[in-house]
Amino acid sequence: MRIGILTGGGDAPGLNAAIRAVGRKAFLAGDTLRGIHNGWAGLCDEPDFFDIERRALSGILQLGGTMLGSSRVNPLKRPNGIPEVIANLKRAEIDALVAIGGDDTLSVAAGLAERGAHVVGVPKTMDNDLSVTEYCIGFDSAVSIVAEALDRLHTTAASHHRVMVVEVMGRDTGWVAVMGGLAGGADLIIIPEFPVSLDDVVKHLENRRAGGSDFSIIVTSEGVQIKGVELEDVRDSKRDAFGHVQMSKRGVGERLAGLIEERTGYETRATVLGHTQRGGSPSAYDRIWATHVGAAAYDLVTQARWGEMPVVRNGGVEVAKIADVVVEQRRVPRKLYDLAHIFY
Ligand code: F6P
Repeated sequence: MRIGILTGGGDAPGLNAAIRAVGRKAFLAGDTLRGIHNGWAGLCDEPDFFDIERRALSGILQLGGTMLGSSRVNPLKRPNGIPEVIANLKRAEIDALVAIGGDDTLSVAAGLAERGAHVVGVPKTMDNDLSVTEYCIGFDSAVSIVAEALDRLHTTAASHHRVMVVEVMGRDTGWVAVMGGLAGGADLIIIPEFPVSLDDVVKHLENRRAGGSDFSIIVTSEGVQIKGVELEDVRDSKRDAFGHVQMSKRGVGERLAGLIEERTGYETRATVLGHTQRGGSPSAYDRIWATHVGAAAYDLVTQARWGEMPVVRNGGVEVAKIADVVVEQRRVPRKLYDLAHIFY
């Protein structure tokens, strides 16, 4: 059997570990592996692929990024996009496709499976907001990077008695902010799920000063709306093929820092962690679980379980329908958010 494999959407540490797992299992069974370049882009217009040799999988476990390249090209937004992808899979002589990605990439996979294509999915998004699964490739590495950044910002914040506003990724959900903030000991975490106002933020900082804490670290998701913090309207800015505007252009961290300084008189600085959260080597956890879900995706292929994907639940790998995983975003529960609160 010839298995095609692609990675779509934003890259994340651990993608190569998953590719390696699929490939190693495939080679053991005598199957071959065809890498699709740059996500769905490699299956639009002309198919763009290469054969992955066994040797090419050596030494990639610990590498960040994706050896296949990625893009946010969306066949669902192209006239005839899905039939075009199906035709290109045939032209590339691919018997089964493993699509590794987040909700955008997997929505396309679900659409393909609905039309009879031989496709299985693998959960990836450093935002960690896919439904059903408790693990998404890249999230743990991102959280570790945020935690390390907070450790570093703590020492400089303490030396200068400053407020530090740290903007992290998270368009619609606050998983990276809340888990990174918990791990790094943030003094306030602001996420899309539980809105706060500028007045709340100022009050909290003043209370901390009154209580003897002369510096504060605030972690905010890039996508938050904060009452009293007006941002430039980015609705008309350039969008990707899935219709998302670039969140970093909103500049919520910088704007919030300016307003805090204005309102409190405390010296305040903003740090935007941006793509550092998606770069570099995967954490050990991401290597291990990307290997688990990659290997399980190969098993689904051998069982012809099209339209399904491995998910992680209750500490183990289970199987779910791709359509169920992309049906809605998983949001941070109140309980977790409240746990972070205790340490403010
Ligand atoms: O892939 C998800 C994500 O990391 C979001 O959290 C972030 O808003 C976005 O990607 C950034 O996308 P890009 O790399 O295309 O600028």
